[in-house]
Amino acid sequence: GLPIEVDLSAIEPGGTIVVTWRSKPYFIRQLLDDEIAAADTLGEGDMKEYQPAAERIAGPDGAETRNWVIVSATCTHLGCVPNIVDNAPEGWFCPCHGSVFDMVGRILRGPAATNLPLPPYVFADESTLIVG
Ligand code: FES
Repeated sequence: GLPIEVDLSAIEPGGTIVVTWRSKPYFIRQLLDDEIAAADTLGEGDMKEYQPAAERIAGPDGAETRNWVIVSATCTHLGCVPNIVDNAPEGWFCPCHGSVFDMVGRILRGPAATNLPLPPYVFADESTLIVG
């Protein structure tokens, strides 16, 4: 249950890593500008559990751009691990029963009813994230 330290410097824009915290996987992705723009265009009518995209996008204190998403990689339906695939260009696709989450982890369609949770985290500096 201890916090984990993650070096973000090797993650390019559009890149994702999976880290494990408390035995569960979490995605850490550096969003592309067009992914942030796409998330911003979605409204309450597009998803089951509305939350503004900006509340799910983070960045280091004082950074010019906030373009990180740190989100649970455990589908809120029955616990499979979603992927980024061609048939869900807007975000994460769960291969088990077809739930689609947007790039910031909000549930768009499929059997899952709730968003992918955000873990507790803090940016220690520009390239260091502490999860937990
Ligand atoms: Fe993801 Fe069922 S476990 S859609």
